[in-house]
Amino acid sequence: MTRTPPAPGADGQFGSVPDLQRALAGVDYLADEGLAMAAFLALRMGRPLLLEGENGVGKTEIALALAQLLDRELIRLQCYEGIDTSQALYDWHYARQLLAVREGAAHADVFTREYLLPRPLLTALELGAGSVLLIDELDRADDEFEAFLLEMLSDFSVTIPEFGRIRAPSRPLVVLTSNRTRDLHNAVRRRCLYSWVAHPDAERELAILRVRAPQVPEPLAAEVAGAVARIRGLDLVNRPGVGEAVDWASALHMLGLAKLDRQTALDTLAALVKDVDDQQTVAEAIDDVIPEPES
Ligand SMILES: Nc1ncnc2c1ncn2[C@@H]1O[C@H](COP(=O)(O)OP(=O)(O)O)[C@@H](O)[C@H]1O
Ligand SMILES: [Mg+2]
Repeated sequence: MTRTPPAPGADGQFGSVPDLQRALAGVDYLADEGLAMAAFLALRMGRPLLLEGENGVGKTEIALALAQLLDRELIRLQCYEGIDTSQALYDWHYARQLLAVREGAAHADVFTREYLLPRPLLTALELGAGSVLLIDELDRADDEFEAFLLEMLSDFSVTIPEFGRIRAPSRPLVVLTSNRTRDLHNAVRRRCLYSWVAHPDAERELAILRVRAPQVPEPLAAEVAGAVARIRGLDLVNRPGVGEAVDWASALHMLGLAKLDRQTALDTLAALVKDVDDQQTVAEAIDDVIPEPES
């Protein structure tokens, strides 16, 4: 019998951490207790949630999952080097302003909301609790951009010089992620709840494979989960993420393979290990990665 996952209350709150965990599972996201607790508290306390971890551990995905189960709009800001307020927050609609001035509008009249072009941060602020704001890979942005975010993270408001202060009518759920290519400021950390997202253990990974690659038969999925866990234990430049594990299991199944032996593993590494040195490392350790079948 399938149970309907627990729905949030009218205020977007869940009764307990296990309730939130079950609701996330209902949208195919399997969070461990630590991550579920951090997300639960972020919702309860109306505070931003900062997630750090290696590539492919599910940081971005949980924001999508939360938006889906809360039935809120996901507003996504992908950070990059050089990102500034005109791409992240707002820009002025210059063409429209010019037109208005030509038609005789006074200078003061063209710096109103009507001429503001909202970018993701402003869109999310104006939507308030109707949105989940994902500020993805903040470690890619520069220091100045991080500093600029502080007002928004503590007051859920922003100041636009020509216009004034815009305050969110209610708090959006803000999820920030970092792959930790550099350290984020303590000032940002202080304003957030924090969770380090680790790779799932083999048991959780198998559960994830069941929902994300349901076509793959159980014995093969279990072998993949075990092998991936052992591969992550090797000294690699880039440890494979959950998405890679899903790809690998899907690829093996697509090739009509029902069992994972050493040769098959080596032949299909393209789906799992995306670095030539790492592929070499896995090849050298293949006897430990795929244990001798019991006879
Ligand atoms: N806990 C999880 N439950 C279900 N799927 C997951 C989980 N973690 C990761 N995934 C899968 O792995 C993929 C990569 O995760 P992603 O959120 O993009 O990683 P990150 O943002 O940490 O680099 C997702 O698209 C999703 O399919
Ligand atoms: Mg990501």
